Amino acid sequence: MSIQEKKIEELVERRSGARLGGGQKRIDAQHAKNKLTARERLALLLDEGSFEEFDMFVQHRCTNFGMDAAHIDGDGVVTGQGTIDGRLVFVFAQDFTVNGGSLSKTMSEKICKVMDMAVRAGAPVIGLNDSGGARIQEGIDALAGYGEIFERNILASGVVPQISLIMGPCAGGAVYSPALTDFTLMVKDTSYMFLTGPAVVKSVTGETVTQEELGGAAVHSSKSGVAHFSADTEEDAIAQIRRLLSFLPQNNMETAPFRPTADPVSRTDDALNSIIPDNPNKAYDMYAVIRSIVDDGDFFEVHKAFAKNIIVGFAHMGGRSVGVVANQPAVLAGVLDINASRKASRFVRFCDAFNIPLLTLVDVPGFLCGTQQEYGAIITNGAKLLYAYGEATVPKVTVTLRKSYGGAHIVMSCKQLRGDINYAWPSAEIAVMGADGAVGVLYGKEIKAETDPEKQAAIAGEKKNEYNELFCNPYQAATKGYIEDVIEPRNTRFRAVRAFEVLAGKRQEMPAKKHDNMPL
Ligand code: HXC
Repeated sequence: MSIQEKKIEELVERRSGARLGGGQKRIDAQHAKNKLTARERLALLLDEGSFEEFDMFVQHRCTNFGMDAAHIDGDGVVTGQGTIDGRLVFVFAQDFTVNGGSLSKTMSEKICKVMDMAVRAGAPVIGLNDSGGARIQEGIDALAGYGEIFERNILASGVVPQISLIMGPCAGGAVYSPALTDFTLMVKDTSYMFLTGPAVVKSVTGETVTQEELGGAAVHSSKSGVAHFSADTEEDAIAQIRRLLSFLPQNNMETAPFRPTADPVSRTDDALNSIIPDNPNKAYDMYAVIRSIVDDGDFFEVHKAFAKNIIVGFAHMGGRSVGVVANQPAVLAGVLDINASRKASRFVRFCDAFNIPLLTLVDVPGFLCGTQQEYGAIITNGAKLLYAYGEATVPKVTVTLRKSYGGAHIVMSCKQLRGDINYAWPSAEIAVMGADGAVGVLYGKEIKAETDPEKQAAIAGEKKNEYNELFCNPYQAATKGYIEDVIEPRNTRFRAVRAFEVLAGKRQEMPAKKHDNMPL
């Protein structure tokens, strides 16, 4: 064997050693927990043969606790670039088989390198997290490593999409990197996120709780909203992320890819003409409206299990990627509360940052009232959504289907918040409040003064009719130019698609400032 052949053989051997990570025994243990290895995950995530790995031979520099005798090439994270549906992405995948995927200073340097490359290349960065947190043997160096990553998360925010998959433990301060990214997905039963685990919780608060109850996928995707998506399996998780990317541009200077469709732009749907019940207190399903008007009925929902009274997600309209925000009358009558406001404002800001136009479908009775909401700062949280819509400069098309009352009317992308094209269905009720509330305020005393209950009901009924005729319709708004047109529900798809086509070249600037001070 020549010297060169020997050198090549050494490279091949070293590569296969690095690919084994913590060794076969630990790989088997990972599989036994229903988890894939870092490399298996990347193989599923990226287009076949597209992965190019960087820093495969990087080793940690720690000498504490005998670590100088324990070196594994790659140091517990696999990093590099590849493609998804032919589009460039940068990736890092923590390898739990090496020191439990714990973060060393060198691991952080590897992760930071791909984050920097992603920003320079203008491509998304996807992190696959599976880690015991800061590598304990490294002490403050590991913490410094997290700090470096967080800073890059912040600098990359709004420049390239950042996506986190949680595929194992994610505890302590480590949870803040996913929290800083645009989308977080958790895998059911095998991943968890919390600041302190069940043992510490027990000792501090006395509360007994399991890992799953404290920070599992179900909890974070439905109660806290920390996770935007949850998946039954790792394969499902990866398929969801591949799909998510198909709606997104590569960076903030681009628009999302055009997706040609066989679904005619001029398609009408007669069913929409009868979807609004005659009884204003009866619900209907907003999903049916969304599916009816978007291309091929294809809607990719974000935060599906969290704050279900508002729906947010991506779709295509006439081939263009759009963000859909819609009140859901079938849940809590579509009222805006703290969680709905947080959910929708974050989504609106993401869409605006990445040039994704917004379609808003309105049927909102108002903001939820009561001490729980007031103490939880519905004022500040509601203002987030108001702010997000008001600052957004992407094309904004709004359709009011039914109720649009008071402050909630303004918040839901009204004309005065720089709404570009605002339509209403004939069933729209755009007013300060509903008839019941209004008659109570204006004629409550008069009604109470009447002792005969039948007469009371008659006065109330008469006043409500008067109010409904005057205000609970779209024409008050239409006569003043606050909406562009009253449209037949069946025509909503082509009217909205045409509006987005007209608005495709929209340019709107914000006044110069260091940054805003949105109500956080
Ligand atoms: C070094 C670690 C480690 C860590 C795990 N390992 N976590 N090594 N630093 N943080 C090692 C284990 O020693 C073990 O090595 C291997 O990884 C697998 O761990 P196991 O405990 O055998 O696995 P499992 O039973 O699945 O438990 C996983 C675990 C547990 C729940 C994550 O390891 C654990 O509780 N680790 C500590 C978590 C933690 O408190 N981290 C610090 C959080 S604070 P061997 O050689 O035996 O296989 C933090 C601060 C960040 O991260 C601050 C940012 C600002």
